[in-house]
Amino acid sequence: MINKKIEDICNRQIEREGYSSILYLAMASWSEINGLAGVAGWLYAQAEEEKLHMLKFIKYINERGGKAVLPAFKKPPADFKTVEDLFKEVLKHEEFVTASINEIVALSLSEKDFNTHNFLQWFVFEQVEEESSARAILDKIRLVGKNNMYQFDRDIMTLRGPAAGQASGTQTA
Ligand code: FEO
Repeated sequence: MINKKIEDICNRQIEREGYSSILYLAMASWSEINGLAGVAGWLYAQAEEEKLHMLKFIKYINERGGKAVLPAFKKPPADFKTVEDLFKEVLKHEEFVTASINEIVALSLSEKDFNTHNFLQWFVFEQVEEESSARAILDKIRLVGKNNMYQFDRDIMTLRGPAAGQASGTQTA
């Protein structure tokens, strides 16, 4: 049986993973209406992955005898200045999620909840991939230059490396 502290912090993570999905959907929609079909495709796929992350926490809490509670989500931004700014936001958000996962890992150890610790290892690995993929995209934007968004938009799907989606069992590229 999951203890209350672990249940609460895992429920907090449901909100964070769900908000990630909504944030990336908002970013995808902005990209789509600004003629960036490639960027939109990358972000729509990412939003799906985040939904699966949320689902993993919902199922885990319930399987351990707790109660997963779906929260209200805050409204994501509707506008972004540039594609580079948008991906800086993605990286900042992923760093926030990594810190959040690490906090649950630390709590699972102090509470001696080794089942939760084991469950979280998938997310620890996933966060390395997600941060690295956002950094790779920012590097590419700097390489092609802000004025060559056409080429960047055409090539962005190739930046979803072979590891993308593997951890979640979905191949999105
Ligand atoms: Fe599920 Fe990108 O954090």
